[in-house]
Amino acid sequence: MPRRKSTPTPPTRPSASDLQVLVPKTTPKRFYGHGIPGVDVSQLTGKLIVVEGADGSGRSTQIARLKDWLEGHGHATVQIGLKHSKLIGEELDRAQAGNVLSRTTFSLFYATDFADQLESSIIPSLRAGFMVLADRYIYTLMVRDLVRGMDREWVENLYSIAVVPDAVFYLKVAPGELVQRTFAKSHALDYWESGMDLGLSRDMFDSFVKYQELVTAEFERLQRTYGFSIVDGNQPPEVITAELQRKIERVLRGEG
Ligand SMILES: Nc1ncnc2c1ncn2[C@@H]1O[C@H](COP(=O)(O)OP(=O)(O)OP(=O)(O)O)[C@@H](O)[C@H]1O
Ligand SMILES: [Mg+2]
Repeated sequence: MPRRKSTPTPPTRPSASDLQVLVPKTTPKRFYGHGIPGVDVSQLTGKLIVVEGADGSGRSTQIARLKDWLEGHGHATVQIGLKHSKLIGEELDRAQAGNVLSRTTFSLFYATDFADQLESSIIPSLRAGFMVLADRYIYTLMVRDLVRGMDREWVENLYSIAVVPDAVFYLKVAPGELVQRTFAKSHALDYWESGMDLGLSRDMFDSFVKYQELVTAEFERLQRTYGFSIVDGNQPPEVITAELQRKIERVLRGEG
């Protein structure tokens, strides 16, 4: 059989969006309320992108993918997690272990911790023009307080020191799926993430599901005030990333 001359396959061309380095449009920053004294918001040229969601909702997975994607497009990117600060992190861990503080004291502890991180890492990164990917922000802290019956106005006022992010994505995952992911990852449920202090149920598994339902409902209530984007976190990781990328591109173009 005569051999047919094979036609060379043309190299796959990168699509226009692969080649494009989007220069982020600077949009004015503001604080939710009184903010941090002495900070000139006009100097905060970076973008603050927040990924919120329950434990095991896939925040780390998405942030790692977004970081690669943003850096691949030439954006200096920094990842910030709401880990306990150097200032009072140790005391907070001890307070959690002891379960002895009142709810108000706990709230103030967390708010102090957040204020320290805002001042020492988030604001400096924004001033340096970075794309800041925040693994959680004030909303998780507010939700934790609100489901424990703290006064809404008091909580909103407490966190009015925060910079308004350029985008907030809430990964919404069904509580049953969260249990499975958490077990697969760490083989145990966390006391606080199960809301065991609320006395919803003596059974930790049952309490986890009930608590996560309360948290989801509160996130949806906050969404109406703070206008963040709710993303279906039950989808496969790559589908979620594609959705987040589309939304972030809009933010970079100043349309977000
Ligand atoms: N969209 C997804 N579908 C199914 N499994 C996922 C998805 N995203 C992440 N996972 C898996 O779920 C587990 C938790 O994901 P990940 O660590 O990203 O969540 P997280 O929100 O950062 O959790 P944590 O609160 O513990 O930091 C991991 O084992 C991860 O591989
Ligand atoms: Mg994580």
